[in-house]
Amino acid sequence: MSPSTPTCTVAVAASIVLGSRVFVPARLYEQDKIVAIAERLGKTPGQVILRYPIQRGLITIPKSTNAGRIAQNIDLFDFELTDEDMATLASFENARGRACAFSNMKDHPLYPF
Ligand SMILES: NC(=O)c1ccc[n+]([C@@H]2O[C@H](COP(=O)([O-])OP(=O)(O)OC[C@H]3O[C@@H](n4cnc5c(N)ncnc54)[C@H](OP(=O)(O)O)[C@@H]3O)[C@@H](O)[C@H]2O)c1
Repeated sequence: MSPSTPTCTVAVAASIVLGSRVFVPARLYEQDKIVAIAERLGKTPGQVILRYPIQRGLITIPKSTNAGRIAQNIDLFDFELTDEDMATLASFENARGRACAFSNMKDHPLYPF
């Protein structure tokens, strides 16, 4: 790359991380493997799910109408998922766990999934 080549940084945001109510049939926060990680870490399953994209460097946008869950959903920075935990969370990235698969972009060189 020459010194004059323009560059830009793209910030990627993740929405519907908790599966929303309507988009994702699998209730991620009820999955046994995610519940087990949460119990080991002393966190809630929702916090484990939200920590996954944060640890991948993604801006993460959860929504809750419940004061207790809103508090949980910003309390994500005093624990870390292991590589094994991250792999477990990644295993839910499939047709049941992903709201927008962007399958029409599968051939793009920057397709992320
Ligand atoms: N930019 C975009 O293209 C785009 C696309 C879609 C959505 N969004 C935005 O992204 C945000 C999130 O979307 P979303 O609301 O559809 O999906 P979401 O955040 O994945 O799911 C929200 C649902 O999860 C529940 N919830 C929240 N915290 C929880 C926790 N800790 N444990 C268990 N359940 C929990 C909420 O229930 P309670 O309210 O009862 O807690 C609600 O039913 C919204 O602000 C939406 O507008 C943006």
